[in-house]
Parts: sequence; structure tokens; C-alpha cells
Amino acid sequence: MSPEVVVAEPPVLAQALVDLVSSAAHEAEAAGRRLSLALPGGSTAEMLLPPLARAAIDWTRANFFWGDERAVDPGHPDSNYGLAQRLFLGPIGADRAQVHRIEAEGPDLEAAATGYAARLASVLGQSPALDFVLMGMGPDGHVCSLFPGHAALREDEHLVLAISDSPKPPPRRVTLSMAALEAARVVCIAAFGEAKAEVLREALEERTSALPVALVARRFRRTVFLLDPPAAALLHRA
Ligand code: 6PG
Repeated sequence: MSPEVVVAEPPVLAQALVDLVSSAAHEAEAAGRRLSLALPGGSTAEMLLPPLARAAIDWTRANFFWGDERAVDPGHPDSNYGLAQRLFLGPIGADRAQVHRIEAEGPDLEAAATGYAARLASVLGQSPALDFVLMGMGPDGHVCSLFPGHAALREDEHLVLAISDSPKPPPRRVTLSMAALEAARVVCIAAFGEAKAEVLREALEERTSALPVALVARRFRRTVFLLDPPAAALLHRA
């Protein structure tokens, strides 16, 4: 399916996100599931998690996951979990039982990846399909910790991968694989600022682009881009 692209100022993008997550919550409820939501790091978390926390959404039955995590303690300023805890999970009063963080701080990253795959399966079943993945995108076209040209992009067996050579610091990370992301019902990518404009043009307008964000845009069931005007500046269709 072609990706949906919303271009607007951040407050309007935040409302679009609230509407999308509300719909996902209603669909999950109607299907007898608990909403499963994967949370982002970076500027997407900073811009969009505070307004999402203020939305009139009943979070009491939701399960919260992450798309990726850096190999740092949960209290470290670089922790994606820590950021979400401050901006979203704390403000909504999430219960510990709803929060499924990637425990990437130990010495064994492979064990962390295997442990997170087991957690996904225990909460969502043997073929885990997240209802909604919210994520950012790097200026090089990476999503989660899946970087352009990296062997991890070709991994189609495991749902969670250990990365020890991320070009974006810190180098050690744990990430959902493309296969895990592709199983999600909705993937929502937010991007802000002109540094993301060229890569978005390539991802959305060049059919042969092999950038991770382009693969998400072309192949997944439903992908929604939330872009501010500088990020969308080079799109011909926007
Ligand atoms: C991370 C992220 C990563 C991030 C992009 C965009 O933990 O580093 O998950 O994929 O979303 O690098 O980050 P910015 O939005 O801060 O540019």
C-alpha cells in the first residue's frame, strides 16, 4: 500500500498522531486485544510523546514496547526507555506490568535481543504483531537501529537484533528487525527539520531506493509519515 504522508506544523502532527493511535486502540479493543504500542527515541519522542500523554485515550489496557534501545542504563540520559518514562509513561501513570522495555544495559547484547524477542512472544503470541509503531528517522535514512547497507537489514529470521557497530552513537544497541516491523499493523514515522528532507525525497520518490526508511515506505501494510514543512520541503507530491 502507498504510504500516507501528512505535512503540517508540529501541533497538527501531534493531533494526527492522537487520532491514529485512538483508532488503533479502538480496533484492538474491537478485536479483543490490548493495544500494543512501540515507543520512539530521539526528537520524535521529544516532540510527540508529551501531546500523546495529554490525549483522552484510555491507556489502562495498553502494552508499551520500544523499537530500539541504546546499551545504557535505564536512568542514563541516552536511554530511550528513560526518555519515554519522563515524557509519557510517568505522566499517564503506566503500571509497571504494562511496560516492556528492552534491557540492553548488560554486557551480553545477544542475550538482551533474545530476551526481548521472548518478551514480545509472551505478551503478543508466537508471531508478534505490534498494533502501532511510532518511530523517528535519521538523516541517513535509518529507522530504529537499522542502518543503510548494514547486514542487519537482510536478517529475516529474528525479530530482535543486537547491533554493535551503530554509526550513530552509542554503537551498541538492540533493535526490532525489519521482519518485526513489517508485521506491525501501523508504522508511523515522524521527521522534523530540513536535515531529513533529502532522504525523505529519496525514500518516497525513488522506487529503487534501498534506504531502510524506503523499504518501510514501500513494503509495509500501512505506513504513515508525519512531516513538518522543512522535512517535506523537497517532496514533489506534498
Ligand atoms: C535512536 C532512534 C533512532 C532515531 C533516529 C532519529 O534511538 O537513536 O531510535 O532511530 O529515531 O536517529 O533521531 P532524531 O529524531 O533525534 O533525529
